[in-house]
Amino acid sequence: MPGTRPPPRGDRPAATHRRPRRALDVDPATATAVRESWALVEPRLPELATTFYRLLFEHVPQARTLFPGNLPPQRSRLLPALVDVLQRVDRPGELVPVLAQLGRDHRKFGIDAVHYEAVGAALLAALEDQLGDAWTAELAEAWAGAYSVVSRTMLAGARAGNGPATWLGRVVDHHRMGWGLALITVQTLEPMPYRAGQYLSVETPQRPRSWRYLSPANPPRPDGLLQFHVRAVAGGLVSPAMVAHTRVDDVWRLGTPMGGLHLGVESGRDLLLVAGGTGVAPIKAIVNQLAAQGGPCRTHVFVGGRTWNDLYAVPGLTALAHRSPWLDVVAAVEQNAGEAEHGPVGDVVIRHGPWTDHDVLVAGPPAMIRATSTALVAAGTHPARIRHDPLLSAYAG
Ligand SMILES: Cc1cc2nc3c(=O)[nH]c(=O)nc-3n(C[C@H](O)[C@H](O)[C@H](O)COP(=O)(O)OP(=O)(O)OC[C@H]3O[C@@H](n4cnc5c(N)ncnc54)[C@H](O)[C@@H]3O)c2cc1C
Ligand code: HEM
Repeated sequence: MPGTRPPPRGDRPAATHRRPRRALDVDPATATAVRESWALVEPRLPELATTFYRLLFEHVPQARTLFPGNLPPQRSRLLPALVDVLQRVDRPGELVPVLAQLGRDHRKFGIDAVHYEAVGAALLAALEDQLGDAWTAELAEAWAGAYSVVSRTMLAGARAGNGPATWLGRVVDHHRMGWGLALITVQTLEPMPYRAGQYLSVETPQRPRSWRYLSPANPPRPDGLLQFHVRAVAGGLVSPAMVAHTRVDDVWRLGTPMGGLHLGVESGRDLLLVAGGTGVAPIKAIVNQLAAQGGPCRTHVFVGGRTWNDLYAVPGLTALAHRSPWLDVVAAVEQNAGEAEHGPVGDVVIRHGPWTDHDVLVAGPPAMIRATSTALVAAGTHPARIRHDPLLSAYAG
């Protein structure tokens, strides 16, 4: 990272490699060194964030305009996401597709290699600042090596990205369902090339420069309509404003469609689709896609929520199931179940098993995805048959 790094202290090596590496070809010792030293710094994340952003903006002042105006550094999403990714560099199978998509999506910021160098330099200098004497030449080499492969994978994804970096969408409908949820329909001029089940990041006029992921609840349509289900998260910066203050004719910016939660090459197996919270949006998109294809495989859908109010999408799905012999829908509620089955959705799924011969797609809050996947694997489903979106820290919400 020459040119953008602060003056080196002592014997810190340059961020170069002894031999050319393939994307995410990192030796296990590098990943272990990054993880172990991160455990020392993590309790001081707020201080690290303050130094990181100060150095980044000193080195590349125009980068300041990319981040939300008055947001404290501690609430920014870049740094936790970056550190999370760097600790997983020894898991290329999991990371490479995610990083390639992330790099492609980062085109929305209009950034280039100079920004990547500056972020790496600021990270290393901020780590050195926090670790003091514990920051050794070996640690510097490990972090620099890990950062180098991550940034190269993202840049390669950005360069391979064809199509526009962003689309504009006009809000054509905003329907509030209670105080905490809204169904928001946006129309793009040209249909977006996404696959049912994917997600994309959006920026709204109420919260400029604060991008958040949302999953369209419908498959792509020729008229460019996308419906989003938005839940207001307590204490959240963006979602409460989306639910409460979105207006018809607002213009949203939409990023590149991402994620691997979509129908793949036909496996011939039956499908198990599990949704929690607004995770029902991508699952609904997939079910509607299957319906448009005439129900090519037997499909079981489980929709879970804490209360009945969380099951707002169940009546529509149940109505579709009544006229579709290939489709079954089960509702699961954790409190006051009423007519639904009682318990966390993952437990209810297992009660209806076995699911050892199914392809499984899971969407919802990270804790629900983890619990459901773990329960399925324990009950005999092969992990390779279970798909969900990435569980990196900045993706949680
Ligand atoms: C793949 C994917 C698809 C998604 N699809 C949808 C969807 O279809 N519909 C939907 O509604 N949501 C969806 N989400 C979630 C969405 O992207 C947002 O994460 C969510 O709306 C919260 O955003 P926010 O700005 O309101 O909250 P944020 O401001 O990001 O905060 C989230 C939570 O963290 C807390 N928090 C944040 N920073 C701090 C801090 N420094 N200290 C303490 N607490 C803090 C907040 O209080 C809040 O509780 C999806 C997420 C992913 C990863
Ligand atoms: C090198 C590895 C990087 C990783 C793994 C990474 C990852 C992420 C993730 C997951 C998010 C949150 C989701 C989103 O808003 O898209 C994010 C946000 C962001 N990233 Fe990156 N990023 C990297 C590099 C960069 C670089 C080089 C820049 C340019 C300065 C940058 C600028 C931003 C900005 C402006 C945001 C939104 C503001 C925020 O919430 O922090 N990122 N990044």
